[in-house]
Amino acid sequence: MDRYAVVGNPVAHSVSPRIHAIFAAAAGQELRYEKILAEEFVSAADAFFEHGGRGLNVTLPFKQDAFGWVDRVDDAAREAEAVNVVAHDDDGYSGYNTDGIGLVRDLRDNLGLSLNGRRILVLGAGGAVRGVLGPLSRTGADELVVANRTESRARVLRQVFPNIGAASLADVRGAYDLVINGTSAGFAGEVPDIDPQAVRNAFCYDMSYAPGSDTPFCAWSRAHGAAGVSGGLGMLVEQAAETFLLWRGVRPPTAGVVAALDRG
Ligand code: ATR
Repeated sequence: MDRYAVVGNPVAHSVSPRIHAIFAAAAGQELRYEKILAEEFVSAADAFFEHGGRGLNVTLPFKQDAFGWVDRVDDAAREAEAVNVVAHDDDGYSGYNTDGIGLVRDLRDNLGLSLNGRRILVLGAGGAVRGVLGPLSRTGADELVVANRTESRARVLRQVFPNIGAASLADVRGAYDLVINGTSAGFAGEVPDIDPQAVRNAFCYDMSYAPGSDTPFCAWSRAHGAAGVSGGLGMLVEQAAETFLLWRGVRPPTAGVVAALDRG
């Protein structure tokens, strides 16, 4: 049976094995998908592929290591300088980044948001945000602003994505149609410190997720008049569907998968 895995640290919480099991069943395919807890990426990847692995998902903190390790990358991975999917074929190892397309597909196809001509605010300027800015910048949005606690990190991103705006959290003003939280503040139970007016009547999306409940950012946005909120489980499912397509040649249906995962 073809072997796949997600490698990360920590990785115990990963829902990727469950998502790929649902996809494999829907596509009538048999595969094995496991979790690999690694101290270091290169030796873990070498060992996995030496033992017949076909493809790897890469999660924190190894996406940059994977970018440096593969033989070639697609445009999304080059922009993100991060790889979340590795495929092994006759020519070696190919690296891809499906995070950004996963986010855009969730926003558009599952949540029904039109991004063309909209004002989008992205909070955070770390690896998670860098991974999604390329696809987000190609949605036809009227304005795409990245605001970060440390403003200089947002400004650095303009070297790669010249059309975005950069700001500090304290400088966020005005109204947005869509506010995306890409900070890690929620892991500490915190919310990025922005003017609540920014989320009023906006759709608020948190790239992290908390199974079965709101993230701190979603709860805060709801309390401050957001038009709607969503955690990032849909992005994860869509990212995984793109991954399945790369590995197995078919795009599995994603409708209902978020609800099935949320039910536990
Ligand atoms: P990741 O790869 O998950 O993006 P990272 O590169 O460490 O991780 O980036 C974490 C992001 O969350 C950064 O934008 C960070 O802001 P700084 O650049 O100012 O450190 C942001 N962040 C973390 N905790 C935060 C908090 N309590 N409030 C606001 N932003 C926070």
